[in-house]
Amino acid sequence: MKKMIAIATAFTLAATLGCVANADEVANADKPVVWFNRQPSNSTTGELDMDALSFNDKTYYVGFDANQGAELQGQMIADYITAHADTIDRNGDGVIGYVLAIGDVGHNDSVARTRGVRKALGTAVEGADGQIDSNPVGTNVDGSSADVQDGKLGDFTVRELASQEMKNSAGATWDAATAGNAISTWASSLGDQIDVVISNNDGMGMAMFNGWSKDQGVPTFGYDANSDAVAAIADGYGGTISQHTDVQAYLTLRVLRNCLDGVDIDTGIGTADEAGNVLPSDSYKYVDEERSYYALNVAVTADNYQDFTDATRTLPDVSNQLDADKYPTKNIWLDIYNSADNFLGATYQPLLQNYDDLLNLNVEYIAGDGQTESNITNRLGNPGQYDGFAINMVKTDNAASYTAILSQ
Ligand code: BGC
Repeated sequence: MKKMIAIATAFTLAATLGCVANADEVANADKPVVWFNRQPSNSTTGELDMDALSFNDKTYYVGFDANQGAELQGQMIADYITAHADTIDRNGDGVIGYVLAIGDVGHNDSVARTRGVRKALGTAVEGADGQIDSNPVGTNVDGSSADVQDGKLGDFTVRELASQEMKNSAGATWDAATAGNAISTWASSLGDQIDVVISNNDGMGMAMFNGWSKDQGVPTFGYDANSDAVAAIADGYGGTISQHTDVQAYLTLRVLRNCLDGVDIDTGIGTADEAGNVLPSDSYKYVDEERSYYALNVAVTADNYQDFTDATRTLPDVSNQLDADKYPTKNIWLDIYNSADNFLGATYQPLLQNYDDLLNLNVEYIAGDGQTESNITNRLGNPGQYDGFAINMVKTDNAASYTAILSQ
């Protein structure tokens, strides 16, 4: 009964707010802001930018648990090597050589994945700050790099033969075409010393798989569980990690919806809304002091990939339509930092587009060039038109370029 009264009160409040809070009547600085996919943080130290994360009392970050996912990716690869010990060492020299495509040396997700792989394969060394060194090695054919060491897995020595940041000449990071070129270069100099190909994401992983490793039968591992990568598991792609994008895309829009409705932030998240939407409790966590929602990751391998074939399918638990009379349409400005990013373009945005209808949000999608923040901020010229903002920065240090516009 108590709960029903609470729900009824929430509706009344929501309906009232829905009537009065037109976009142009609320100061832009007081509107809800959700940072997503690129957490406001120092790109050198990884320290969170709490000024941006608490820009106002309706500001949050939505992403996924980078460390838990990174550990899973490393473990998935180590398990694969152990399970295929009789066939994995292509030239039979007792050394399992791997090459690693790094997405962006200044992006927390990328740094975490490089560390997770090195830790699980025993190739990690500690840097001066006590953290695992995540620098690219360039090439390390003789094992002399100071950024990694030779690891041990069963009877094998494990060596990071080569790694580099996949940044194109114009400055775009996580660049699949650059990874496609890198694997050709590595393959011609390292040949059958390469036993495993690893990537910080599926976009780069698939470029390397299609360009080389598929034909060679060399297992290739990525991250994101994009539909094409999951399908490639049937053709020898070694595995990937789902960062539960179905949960993240929902949270990105749901948090905005809740702030606009003036209801408890947990509505439709940990507490069922009136349409029955509620997230499974093991699919995300919320860390209050970071004002951040983090989806949890799942490994996708030959054992379970059939369950992950459509990466753009909304999660059934949160796919119930909100009543448009009680939750009227709101206008949202949302940007994707790079129109060419495989993960955001092929998986995240299609999911957002499925959820925006269910949540009665009219979202304007802006696509950046992946290189210059101003290319995106220039298109936030009239924030007064929107009720809320979902922001995906080019660089994690650049939150102030957006908050400055909203504070004017
Ligand atoms: C994804 C990458 C993507 C990046 C963009 C990461 O979480 O795994 O595929 O390129 O986000 O910021």
